[in-house]
Amino acid sequence: MRSELTEFTGMNLHFRLFICSLFLSFVGWSQNRIPPLTRMDSEQAAANYQQYCALCHGEEREGDAADYAPSLKSKSLMSTMPLNFLASSIGFGRPGTPMAAYLDEMGGPMSMREIFTLSVWLKQIAGHEQIELPLDPIGGDLENGQLLFRQKCAQCHGKKGEGVEGPALANPAFLAFATDAYIHYAITNGRDETQMKAYNKELSEEERNDLTHYIRSLASGWSPEPKELAPYPNPEDYTLNPLGAHPEFQLKQGRYVPMDQVLNALNEKKRMVILDTRTSSEWHNAHIPGAIPMPYYISEMEVDKDLPKDGTWIIAYCACPHAASDKIINMLRKKGFENTAVIDEGFFKWLDAQYPITAGQMR
Ligand code: HEC
Ligand code: HEC
Repeated sequence: MRSELTEFTGMNLHFRLFICSLFLSFVGWSQNRIPPLTRMDSEQAAANYQQYCALCHGEEREGDAADYAPSLKSKSLMSTMPLNFLASSIGFGRPGTPMAAYLDEMGGPMSMREIFTLSVWLKQIAGHEQIELPLDPIGGDLENGQLLFRQKCAQCHGKKGEGVEGPALANPAFLAFATDAYIHYAITNGRDETQMKAYNKELSEEERNDLTHYIRSLASGWSPEPKELAPYPNPEDYTLNPLGAHPEFQLKQGRYVPMDQVLNALNEKKRMVILDTRTSSEWHNAHIPGAIPMPYYISEMEVDKDLPKDGTWIIAYCACPHAASDKIINMLRKKGFENTAVIDEGFFKWLDAQYPITAGQMR
């Protein structure tokens, strides 16, 4: 068994995806037909959920703990999202949103097996029967769909569907897996116990078709690509500009440093350590130059390994903009690190401002 697993994990990503989809079509999408997890697998999945997901999706999977992350227990989502869609949302994330890729081949912390086990666990613990939706495309009036979208949906999903409080609907990774019927179902039934209400009364069937057709038109094509992963920095390179002076940061609420102060300190070659507290795959995509990966799911035991404890400023950032970095900074402060801060605006604002970044190596 072990050697089969090793062989499987060593395969090329596309081939493994192919295998997984074969496996899934063999057992069928229906939740009833997925064999129940062993107790050990369930316990491991529950622990992985708390370590990797609870920060944003909440300890009870209720959503909205940070970053407007969706509920992972709503009946509407869990009964309509097929297992391969769920697993790929976790493995490949939703590029350009705070939902990172967790698959090891994308630079994330989880194996394919762990991701599948977690997906099955999420379905089983939600306990809703799978609703089989048709695969046929839904046609509609594009212009009217766009008009309705601007009037009714853009305030939460963004003018171009880029996501605000509601998830990004124009997201290529979302649209690569979401069928028209899946989108239509979400509009019609909403997502129970979330901000997304059911539009079955407010909008006619035709209008919901128009909206679905419009959202589909935002697809741009996407397929997961494994990455050539950049090597992690050596501990001796953690401190930037070791011979430079200490920066003088003015913190808000004793914790948050505005990003322009960090940019100045970088430009003036000040001595500091920058921690990227996002999922490691995000560090591989792009990070602030010199930042070292210190993902929010690292244990308290390991968090300060190799960090200088001599008053050197330690600055953390995430996309959130605070949840992950706060968690790491809290751990460091508890351990007696003195000069620590969180970049107030977070990485997306840093990108928007076109401040410097280092891109990871892509294949
Ligand atoms: C008040 C804010 C709000 C408005 C208005 C709103 N949505 Fe949503 N929508 C959300 C949120 C929040 C979610 C995620 C809910 C969850 O699962 O936690 C969501 C989820 C969705 C999803 C499912 C996405 C997925 O990843 O599965 C679709 C599709 C969707 N909305 C379409 C629409 C359309 C079309 C409209 C306009 C008719 C609309 N929404 C209006 C907030 C909103
Ligand atoms: C840093 C915050 C964060 C963390 C940590 C996180 N997520 Fe997410 N997740 C999000 C956000 C935000 C979205 C919505 C993205 C968008 O706009 O499309 C999302 C979307 C999802 C979706 C798609 C749901 C839908 O309605 O379409 C799934 C499934 C999911 N996450 C599962 C997980 C799992 C499982 C983990 C842990 C392995 C995890 N997430 C960790 C923030 C996070």
